[in-house]
Amino acid sequence: MTSKPKILAIPGSLRHHSFNKRVLAIAAQGAEKAGAKITSLDLIDYPLAIYNADDHEQNGFSQNALRLQRLLNTHDGLLIATPSYNGSLPAVLKNTIDWASRPNQYYQKSDIFMGKTAAIISASPGSLGGVRALGHLRDVLTSVKVHVLPTEVAVTFAEERFDGDNPDMIDQEMRQTLENLGHSLVEMIRQTCLRLDTLPKNGRHTSHPHRIM
Ligand SMILES: Cc1cc2nc3c(=O)[nH]c(=O)nc-3n(C[C@H](O)[C@H](O)[C@H](O)COP(=O)(O)O)c2cc1C
Repeated sequence: MTSKPKILAIPGSLRHHSFNKRVLAIAAQGAEKAGAKITSLDLIDYPLAIYNADDHEQNGFSQNALRLQRLLNTHDGLLIATPSYNGSLPAVLKNTIDWASRPNQYYQKSDIFMGKTAAIISASPGSLGGVRALGHLRDVLTSVKVHVLPTEVAVTFAEERFDGDNPDMIDQEMRQTLENLGHSLVEMIRQTCLRLDTLPKNGRHTSHPHRIM
């Protein structure tokens, strides 16, 4: 293995002062300190119509979805922080995953999500921290063959952990927990790459499809 794991940080909220964007940035700092290269996305820059297979067939593949696929294809891991909307992941995040998961003339299914490692976070002003969305997000990611870290973080009472709209977290303990998650993601990607690089396949040693380069 050479160089740095590449991690795509995706917030499930479009809101400018989103708590999830802010907690994601903190976890991303932890991953960066552990040696990762982070690409931070804002889904507001990738507007997508609700996926409709008829539109896809008649009008071709969305250019924004293709831009997302290119990014996914060149990253080893995902760091996602999502709000809970009525106990699940917001439509924008699910729709983005749905679009990005569709094969087309440029990418096969296995090029997009398969074999990546993800860490997931939720944040909410409420007492559950949006944790119910995490179970749903985990299921969706598992369905597209992403390995999701067993450890996850739900940031409860998010409003109290920040000073207004300031991106700095007041709660140092939670800040450390989020940074640790970012660190664990990097370690897991490194371990996975090392293991897969040494696994014999058909009598020969093989490389991980998303090998860190
Ligand atoms: C449609 C909708 C549904 C919501 N459902 C939940 C919920 O199930 N649980 C929860 O803790 N908060 C819920 N909330 C409140 C969000 O947690 C809150 O708006 C939060 O700030 C959103 O995350 P963000 O700050 O990253 O945008 C909901 C908000 C909206 C707009």
